[in-house]
Amino acid sequence: MKKEVRIGMVGYQFMGKAHSHAYRDLPFYFDGKIKPVLKAVAGRKEAAVKDAADRMGWESYETDWRKLVERKDIDVVDIVTPNHTHAEIAIAAAKAGKHVITEKPLALSLEQAKEMHEAVKENNVKHLICHNYRFAPAVQFAKKLLEDGRLGRIYHFRANYLQDFIMDPDFPLIWRLKKEVSGSGALGDIGAHSIDLARFLIGEFEEIVGTTETFIKERPAGEMSGGLSASSDASGYGEVTVDDAVAFISRFENGTLGTFEATRFAGGNRNKNKFEINGEKGSLRWDMEDMNKLDVYFSDDEEGLQGFRTVNCTEEVHPYAGAYWPAGHIIGYEHTFINLLHAFFEESAPYPDFEDGVKNQAVLEAVEKSSEQRQWVSVSK
Ligand SMILES: NC(=O)c1ccc[n+]([C@@H]2O[C@H](COP(=O)([O-])OP(=O)(O)OC[C@H]3O[C@@H](n4cnc5c(N)ncnc54)[C@H](O)[C@@H]3O)[C@@H](O)[C@H]2O)c1
Repeated sequence: MKKEVRIGMVGYQFMGKAHSHAYRDLPFYFDGKIKPVLKAVAGRKEAAVKDAADRMGWESYETDWRKLVERKDIDVVDIVTPNHTHAEIAIAAAKAGKHVITEKPLALSLEQAKEMHEAVKENNVKHLICHNYRFAPAVQFAKKLLEDGRLGRIYHFRANYLQDFIMDPDFPLIWRLKKEVSGSGALGDIGAHSIDLARFLIGEFEEIVGTTETFIKERPAGEMSGGLSASSDASGYGEVTVDDAVAFISRFENGTLGTFEATRFAGGNRNKNKFEINGEKGSLRWDMEDMNKLDVYFSDDEEGLQGFRTVNCTEEVHPYAGAYWPAGHIIGYEHTFINLLHAFFEESAPYPDFEDGVKNQAVLEAVEKSSEQRQWVSVSK
């Protein structure tokens, strides 16, 4: 018999869909001890939250997240709302003795992130931050090659996270473009994922120098309408208060040099989350838009045959791949969330928690400081 863990989720749109799907499919693919139960979903508009509950398979709904947090039949509170709500909900959930899952970035600021981390520690509850890209089998396999020393000393970590969904100047002023709601722009929304991959694969950041830019300063009012789509509401124009793009370089504690770019103005790049690692004995490169593949180069390959080989990470030996389909039968974006939840619920692998969220937020803060001060900034320990 599997142990039932009762989930209460706050929010129900883009990430609400990804998480709902992952809870449902987790016991289907993995023979673990835990079975998540989709107990209740919370949202502010009754008709919309009821529809979401019906569509995504939740047993019940609430129109106030506070009620959901207080419910006796909820074990885990999952927060898939905009960033300015994470801290209040997470701290209330921890105080109510619930385990907490939060989407990234953890908070609006380093200070707020630390308060959240304190709250989960004080109340002795489990905590997870959803850096799902770590859990693509190809990324996990890259980690294994690095741990096995196959690349030797690492010289470079190079990451770009490129999107283009807000390039139209008439794309609305969604929550992602308001500092008081999102904390930062491309930096915290997508750069945070590259930062997490860097911390996962390479190690801790030491210092940073970077710059941000906002290309379109004003936009028509509107809101997200699912995925990365949005609709205008014709109530006028407002100011964009976050970065549209960021570029920074970093030194890691282990001497690796990092190069990062995150932008929503890279036309033609829908979700190009890429990294390349260069070490003394070889190189690795990965691209989310072709996420099953890992390009691998070893400098001791036979002369004349040297170059990147492309490994389809769908074999039994590739982490998590064996839970799905036979070799060559590829998986997708949604499976990264299933793998992440498997690590969390079953304690089957290290998973990103609020401490990772705090360390990630320290890097975000250092990038913003560096851009403001136009100088190198040490990353807060
Ligand atoms: N891990 C990933 O790959 C990934 C991808 C996208 C978004 N995210 C993160 O997930 C979180 C949610 O993003 P999204 O894209 O799903 O947003 P979204 O706009 O699609 O959905 C937000 C949901 O929160 C609800 N909501 C908004 N304000 C609220 C409030 N004040 N109180 C209660 N509910 C509120 C909305 O009704 C909606 O259901 C963000 O923190 C974002 O950074 C992570």
